[in-house]
Amino acid sequence: MRVIVNGITGRMGQIIKALAEKGFAGSVFAAGVSPDVTKDEGNIHSSFNTCTEDADVVVDFSFHGGVKELLDFCVSRKLPVVVATTGHTPQEFDLIRKASEVIPVFHSANMSIGVAVLADLAKKTAAAFPDANIEIVETHHNQKLDVPSGTALLLADAIRQARPEGVYNIGRHENGKRTDQEIGIHSLRIGNVVGIHEILVSTGNETITLKHEAHSRALFGEGALRAAAFLVGKKPGLYNMKDMVG
Ligand SMILES: NC(=O)c1ccc[n+]([C@@H]2O[C@H](COP(=O)([O-])OP(=O)(O)OC[C@H]3O[C@@H](n4cnc5c(N)ncnc54)[C@H](O)[C@@H]3O)[C@@H](O)[C@H]2O)c1
Repeated sequence: MRVIVNGITGRMGQIIKALAEKGFAGSVFAAGVSPDVTKDEGNIHSSFNTCTEDADVVVDFSFHGGVKELLDFCVSRKLPVVVATTGHTPQEFDLIRKASEVIPVFHSANMSIGVAVLADLAKKTAAAFPDANIEIVETHHNQKLDVPSGTALLLADAIRQARPEGVYNIGRHENGKRTDQEIGIHSLRIGNVVGIHEILVSTGNETITLKHEAHSRALFGEGALRAAAFLVGKKPGLYNMKDMVG
């Protein structure tokens, strides 16, 4: 599977290139694109206009504002694309949806297969214990800006699929007993922790703890290349981690 990487000069772009050069998930590095490239050199390009290498799939870790150029390129070459970039506006997301009518598109704001498995387990556990108290605790490094993490919200959303009456209590600021509907979400910021997410489900007689710990950003790269391998040969459509992990 020959892979074109959009955002090649970025942190994730470099991780994808290194993984593809090692043949991870059957991948081969075909070319890279980034507007930060001042002069084309070999298979590293400043824009899609000069990217003519053969490829089977495009993996995108770039900037959401460049999504039109990315999709125009993929549609014109009939190439499947993994869009891992985050922050798309609703209009940009419409472009992604429209492209998925013509080519296979995989989109996920969290490419971690472990987190996808955790979300599925969280949903199943919440369904198995409909009266249990559920709390989510996330821990990240001290430079993280968003609170709670997008992943904690993704997990809470998965739980709420099994428990539609669930009400998020972010940070629990007020005195008083918790309600049965509450899904507590708590954020710790400490040191250089890459990311830990824990879900505690307690009936009073037993507690189940589901935990995922990220050790390196490479896990997102591995997830993206696995998604790329999943996408090659698929019909046009919009796919996500649930389609891959089940
Ligand atoms: N889905 C996931 O699991 C996941 C994981 C990590 C990062 N991300 C997202 O991937 C993106 C890249 O992350 P990063 O840490 O590698 O960022 P980075 O800042 O290190 O790299 C960004 C790359 O995008 C390129 N770029 C900038 N503006 C562009 C434009 N207009 N058009 C095309 N390319 C452009 C830059 O040249 C660079 O190559 C971010 O949106 C980030 O949130 C997603």
